[in-house]
Amino acid sequence: MWWFLIISLLILLYYIWQKLRSLGKKYPMCLPHLPILGSLIYLKSHEETHIYFTKLKEKYGQIYAFWLGSYYVVVVNHFSLAKEVLLKKGKEFACRPQMEKFDIDSVNNLLDMMLKAKINNNGLLTQESEITDKHILMTVGDIFGAGVETSSSVIKWSIAYMLHYPQVQETIQKEIDQKIGFTRTPVLSDRHQLPFLEATVREVLRIRPVAPLLIPHVARTDTSIGEYTIPKDTRIYINLWSIHHDPTEWDEPEQFKPERFLDKNKEQLIMPTASYFPFGGGPRTCIGEFLARAELFLFLSWILQRFDLEVADDGKLPSLEGKFAMVFQILPFKLKFKLRKAWREAQLSA
Ligand code: HEM
Repeated sequence: MWWFLIISLLILLYYIWQKLRSLGKKYPMCLPHLPILGSLIYLKSHEETHIYFTKLKEKYGQIYAFWLGSYYVVVVNHFSLAKEVLLKKGKEFACRPQMEKFDIDSVNNLLDMMLKAKINNNGLLTQESEITDKHILMTVGDIFGAGVETSSSVIKWSIAYMLHYPQVQETIQKEIDQKIGFTRTPVLSDRHQLPFLEATVREVLRIRPVAPLLIPHVARTDTSIGEYTIPKDTRIYINLWSIHHDPTEWDEPEQFKPERFLDKNKEQLIMPTASYFPFGGGPRTCIGEFLARAELFLFLSWILQRFDLEVADDGKLPSLEGKFAMVFQILPFKLKFKLRKAWREAQLSA
């Protein structure tokens, strides 16, 4: 009997303490949650997580919360709030899950930092540091992993969209034929000459972002997003899918329209809205953006200069639904690479 009273009293005190602590504070609306399980049963859906999260905003608003077991998670669905997390308060949200001790201020070059940490006072590499060879190899591995999966996935999505929208492929080829021709292959300095290709890459990264929820960020301190209180250690999911498909920011967001990134004359690249950041932003932005953009430009321009991409003989167009596996991947599909007549003739006469 006594123990029951004591436990009830403790629960009551805890409840009152929680209430007092949150007095005057406003928290994002939270999905229903149960002890231990958190909101797990309310998050079950046959849809991809980012699509389900986008639907939930109709009921819970642009920013809402849920419990993943004992972790408090906040989902941000609007670009202005996302910018606050990534840019304005970038350092406050710079942690990743399980990296709470990471000191973002001191990092200029990740690999430099790791090697420095391994060097002892005599300037020699030491085995007694907290950072082991394994850590360094794992980090380099992560970077290469992030590099290969992401860029190859965007190339596959680009090809799939060009099969669905052959006029986009034709326009890019016309641009390449006129500005580069067939006597040489495109180089990086040609990028500004091929704005339609650049606009197409931007549109692919918008409509099918590689990381539709970015990589989770964690609050390093008690802070806020908009008018809402965010306690230290909260995990933040930035719903890039919702941001890139927001109908109040994008005209017909479900349509593939590279020309939305071009001015009226279709000559200059433009950014029609700020609701766009396929590589994240701020202190934890993608470190491979420059490399990725260069790879995508070279790969696509070289292919389209030489080949026509056509639907396979079975006539099946690729599914554009996608599946999340490390990155947001397109499902495997077949296609035909047909050597372009103009390219072949140019090679014969060279
Ligand atoms: C089109 C290709 C790529 C896209 C769309 C992309 C996108 C992203 C995004 C959205 C993030 C998370 C940003 C955040 O959470 O705020 C990220 C992080 C990262 N990306 Fe990329 N990425 C691409 C290619 C690459 C390449 C080529 C590399 C390496 C060579 C790379 C290395 C990384 C690394 C190491 C991180 C983690 C950064 C950190 O935690 O501080 N990515 N990328």
